[in-house]
Amino acid sequence: MLANRLVIFESTSFVSTSFMPTLFMPTLFNNRVLKWFDQHGRHDLPWQIEPSPFRVWVSEIMLQQTQVNTVIPYYQRFMQRFPTVEALAEAETDQVLHLWTGLGYYARARNLHKTAQLIASQYKGEFPHSVEQLKQLPGIGQSTAGAIAALSMHIKAPILDGNVKRVLTRFHAIEGWPEQSKVKSQLWILAEALLPKHQIAKYTQAMMDLGATVCTRSKPRCSDCPLHRDCEAFKQDLIASIPGKKASKTLPVKSVTLFILQNEAGEILLEKRPPSGIWGSLWSLPEGLPTGSNETEAAGSSHLPVRVKGEKPVELDKIRHTFSHFHLDITPMHLGFASNSNAVMDSQSWLWYPLDHSLEVGLAAPVKKLLSQLANGSVTKAG
Ligand code: ADE
Repeated sequence: MLANRLVIFESTSFVSTSFMPTLFMPTLFNNRVLKWFDQHGRHDLPWQIEPSPFRVWVSEIMLQQTQVNTVIPYYQRFMQRFPTVEALAEAETDQVLHLWTGLGYYARARNLHKTAQLIASQYKGEFPHSVEQLKQLPGIGQSTAGAIAALSMHIKAPILDGNVKRVLTRFHAIEGWPEQSKVKSQLWILAEALLPKHQIAKYTQAMMDLGATVCTRSKPRCSDCPLHRDCEAFKQDLIASIPGKKASKTLPVKSVTLFILQNEAGEILLEKRPPSGIWGSLWSLPEGLPTGSNETEAAGSSHLPVRVKGEKPVELDKIRHTFSHFHLDITPMHLGFASNSNAVMDSQSWLWYPLDHSLEVGLAAPVKKLLSQLANGSVTKAG
């Protein structure tokens, strides 16, 4: 078996600081992956149809933190609405966020919009043809730049998304968390060294498909894998422990009260959030201090653009929303009814949201859920 493996990087400084696995024969590796793809890969994903830089870029951004099955309907709606980079560049941010509502990680949508505007205004509508230039654009990191270059421009560039990390760490039995810089730099070197000379688009899709459908995190189907006979994790029975996990850390909990106020038409008052921070530029329910604080009512009503009609606030069931770095415990508080007021009508940062149809605005995920519960009468009082 050693005959299939080449020792690489004998004289690089990289080797002196960390263990570097030997490299399996690249042609054997990539031929097996390419052959597997012909029979078992995914060939009918929507972004594989006419894979232009624009179409591939949008798909790669959507797929950064979201599964393929979730992305497909969002991608199709997005492409229907914004078929070209110019159409996306000309859109209102609210329209873009509206089509992103539910996908989460909204910075992706804001960066997508900014990049479309840059491509339209500074690159004459054409995506640049190098990984280095693609990486300069908002929201495009090394792996996404590699995927756009390889899939839509046939440029020989490596990618290192979660799927590829899993295949490579297992194949070489690389222990440790793949996001650790020491591990990650080894993986980039391997990813690059294993690329085929030809068929780069096919190989790139194949590696992602192999990771997503065979070399899965739990219950991988090793016997169906074209690489398993030479996979070090398989041979050493290390599949369950590779890739390693991040040392777990308990997330801090923050609390907030969100106020529900209705007008006579039953519409709900929403406030636009500032452009940066959580739910940046999305519409949310007006926010107050946590319940239990004596100031809840005062804090809420003092910044509302309407006068609340004297009813007792009703506390609804709490919702926990988890971000990557903290849990947010939300207490929805029904404050009662308020009259329509010019302060809402005239403002860019307040609106009345109807419950019987959706508006073209981006909504924070738990707010979207609360609005649909209010619409179908399934909200429940706390306690
Ligand atoms: N994940 C990231 N990019 C992907 C692609 N092009 N196809 C399937 N899954 C992916």
